[in-house]
Amino acid sequence: MSATGDEGAFRPLVSFVDVSFRFGGRDAPWILRSVDLAIGRGEFFVLIGPSGCGKTTALNLLAGFEHPSAGQVLVDGEPVVEPGVERAVIFQGEDSLYPWLTVEENVTFSLRAAGLSRRERHRRARPFLQMVGLAGHRHKYPSELSGGMKQRVQLVRALVCDSLVLLMDEPFGALDAQTRSVLQDELARIWENNRVTILFITHDIAEAVLLADRVGVMTAGPESIIKQVVPIDLPRPRSRSDPAFGAAYGQLNELLAEESRRALMDGQ
Ligand SMILES: Nc1ncnc2c1ncn2[C@@H]1O[C@H](COP(=O)(O)OP(=O)(O)OP(=O)(O)O)[C@@H](O)[C@H]1O
Ligand SMILES: [Mg+2]
Repeated sequence: MSATGDEGAFRPLVSFVDVSFRFGGRDAPWILRSVDLAIGRGEFFVLIGPSGCGKTTALNLLAGFEHPSAGQVLVDGEPVVEPGVERAVIFQGEDSLYPWLTVEENVTFSLRAAGLSRRERHRRARPFLQMVGLAGHRHKYPSELSGGMKQRVQLVRALVCDSLVLLMDEPFGALDAQTRSVLQDELARIWENNRVTILFITHDIAEAVLLADRVGVMTAGPESIIKQVVPIDLPRPRSRSDPAFGAAYGQLNELLAEESRRALMDGQ
């Protein structure tokens, strides 16, 4: 839960209600089987689990790219039926940026589609671009940016359109350790300021402990469910050298290692 002082009133913004999913018909294996999950408004929820267990699939269901075979995915009480700007997806690669648009044009693309004037688009984008150190690069094209800069552009694009939920699938997975660490701290700071609801997938346990209010650990597939939800009750901003950080890391590591071992055994 987020540390907003109103933990008593947990009203989920995102719910998976008895969600099952398989690619194909009756003979196809279940990827997810009876998944229940509730993410609170303003919560930073991190999903971890062995490779291939169905994390991206779960995110795709929430994004509206896939549809549950059974059960429902709800946002603000409404079933998800298709992709929508209120659920912004931040992909791992930078492929989703338009190469022919500048940084500023990329981040304000949906505002332009919504009919906002150039001046208004600029006004909305500027503070976010400044926040992530991209203000001086706003006229550059994606081909002129580093990987970390491109990820920042994606993040700003999602923040600018004031989405209800940000869906982030290993957004820093392809970055070098230093850039990754800087972006983790930036994201933590931005989230503390605006408390947007986030579903974040990672394989990096330290990243989960640094960012999450709660971490959902998925079981090895097939028929994955969320095995355990672990609250990370550490004060923010968090420090990787805090002994309590190490304890949370150890707990998650053990849960994940158990499932990863099971995944390897089953795959033999
Ligand atoms: N288009 C598809 N058709 C059939 N099966 C698929 C398809 N996409 C994914 N799968 C299978 O669904 C399962 C879950 O895949 P998913 O991509 O959700 O896993 P993941 O947990 O995100 O893995 P990773 O950590 O490696 O990204 C895997 O067993 C995968 O082989
Ligand atoms: Mg994945």
